[in-house]
Amino acid sequence: MTTVAPKPVFDKGLANTIASESAMSWIDGQAGVLEYVGIDIDSLARNSTFEETVFLLWRGKLPTTAELDAFSASIQDQYELPEPMWDLIRSIPVEAGPMHATRTLVSALALYDPEADDPSTEANERKGIRLLARTPALIANFDRHRNGRDIIKPDPSQNIATSFLTMLNGTPPTDTMSRALDVCLILHADHGFNASTFAGLVTISTLSDMYSAVTSAIGTLKGPLHGGANEAVIHMLDKIGGIDKVEKYIRDKLSRKERVMGFGHRVYKAYDPRATYLKTFAKQLADDTGNQQLYEISNRIEQIMHEAVAAKGILPNVDFYSATTYYSIGLAIDLFTPIFVMSRIAGWVGHCMEQLADNKLIRPRCEYVGPHEMAYVAIEDRQ
Ligand code: CMC
Repeated sequence: MTTVAPKPVFDKGLANTIASESAMSWIDGQAGVLEYVGIDIDSLARNSTFEETVFLLWRGKLPTTAELDAFSASIQDQYELPEPMWDLIRSIPVEAGPMHATRTLVSALALYDPEADDPSTEANERKGIRLLARTPALIANFDRHRNGRDIIKPDPSQNIATSFLTMLNGTPPTDTMSRALDVCLILHADHGFNASTFAGLVTISTLSDMYSAVTSAIGTLKGPLHGGANEAVIHMLDKIGGIDKVEKYIRDKLSRKERVMGFGHRVYKAYDPRATYLKTFAKQLADDTGNQQLYEISNRIEQIMHEAVAAKGILPNVDFYSATTYYSIGLAIDLFTPIFVMSRIAGWVGHCMEQLADNKLIRPRCEYVGPHEMAYVAIEDRQ
């Protein structure tokens, strides 16, 4: 008896395909709502911490004080890098892009993890914790290395945001700066089956391993249509140069059918709720740090885009105001996307664990549009 396969559906870019189930984040793109495990993102940004948010995403509930203390301690216990990793950081060419360095270094962590190929749930969560704990030291110390500074080891008494900024700058951040980064880490932690998460899921669905999945995801996040957009936003603000030049720049760009970075989203057709929060936050930080002009240019771009294309649902996304926020914290522009990595590891690992709990190989089909029944022509007879 032959089985008749169901007819595949053509869905370019998988825009209307639900590939699997998840209990982590819920997005209502029409209403502009994002929830992690049912809790509104705004409420988490105001009240939670990144560590608590990761617990929520991975375990499906908010932790008690004892659970949060134990979870945070388990991350801080894993801050220290395997010794050879420090030499590996120093061996990376100083002119390398930080996303290339991050992808390479995160991938190399697998070389020093005896559990790298252990597929058990417990080992996968431990690997997730190591990835979360160690990636900030890789990014901060690659930045120190390329700037000719000595490495600084992570401080296990600090949370992820504070430890990262301390390593990066050589001195502990102010509470405001540390909290600003912590909030950005919360806002970027998860977002359904975005492109990088999906890339990680494709990898883990082959029963590869957590490090390979996260490495695939990092390579995917790098692109300017995804995580790389926040860097592109600052370059655009810099290029515009002044508030009086915004209107012409944006209208010219739209008339050439070019994309304005930090606008538009595959799912949100209303205001991205992460951008709502970040807009207020970016203004406060810009005021505190003397970067008002940057904020004002951003605000003016938003006005022009509103007049020109808001009717098409092209509104600011998370990257638009996170760019100004990171700039005001004093972060180098090419570190914006690596910082996105630090946060989104939470989502990648969580989704990979969900996938493995009920795995099915992810393998879509393509519509073949090439020729059929062509003759094989001997090489000497080809034109
Ligand atoms: N500027 C100008 N026009 C745009 C933009 C934009 N940023 N985004 C979409 N459009 C237009 C696009 O030209 C097209 O117009 P038309 O129908 O006339 O040809 C229409 O809107 C639909 O665009 P699409 O590319 O089919 O939509 P999509 O869902 O595939 O794209 C997107 C989503 C995020 C790739 C796109 O909006 C974009 O390129 N944005 C700029 C890059 C960006 O900010 N990326 C960060 C996304 S949020 C964070 C993350 O996920 O990492």
